[in-house]
Amino acid sequence: MFNVLDEILVTEQQIRMRMHELGKEISEVYGDSEISVISIVNGAIIFTADLLRTITSPVRLDCIRVSSYGNSTTPETAPEVLGNIGLDIAGRHVLIVDDILDTGKTISQVVHVIDKQNPLSIRSCILLEKLRTRQVAYQADFVGFSIPNKFVVGYGLDFAGRYRNIPVIGVLKEELQSVAV
Ligand code: IMP
Ligand code: MG
Repeated sequence: MFNVLDEILVTEQQIRMRMHELGKEISEVYGDSEISVISIVNGAIIFTADLLRTITSPVRLDCIRVSSYGNSTTPETAPEVLGNIGLDIAGRHVLIVDDILDTGKTISQVVHVIDKQNPLSIRSCILLEKLRTRQVAYQADFVGFSIPNKFVVGYGLDFAGRYRNIPVIGVLKEELQSVAV
């Protein structure tokens, strides 16, 4: 399983520890106020599942789907929000959960769509933030880890739908970044 990785950037133990810190940070900000968590699937599924159980504030959960990179490791077209959320978020505190902040286009698009539904507040919690110049300026409220500008998989992150079940976060071998069958 790990032989598809060039290097491991974040271990299982580091993920577990950071998850509890994030849960604490988030619970301190919201206190007893209810959070409407909007998870960007599929990438944020595993992160969301673990994160939610470390948050002590009351929570509602829904998911939103955004068009993906497909079989490429770089974004070719602007992301599109596919389908809408079922939760009524008007007047609610929304926390968007995503797997990784790269160009910033995905999260900006989701914020735009959610903002139209008049929530009381919008914040975001993103597992990974790539250290690079973003095409769309965006600052997440809660960040798990900052990583170098490399293509990573594992813990929910994929290449062409694969490798999401790897329990660590690692750099996908170069030779596997182009074959997509
Ligand atoms: P952005 O729109 O460029 O900020 O990219 C965010 C989305 O692109 C994430 O939700 C991921 O689905 C995908 N993505 C960006 N970088 C990576 C990566 O290194 N590995 C896997 N998916 C990535
Ligand atoms: Mg993805």
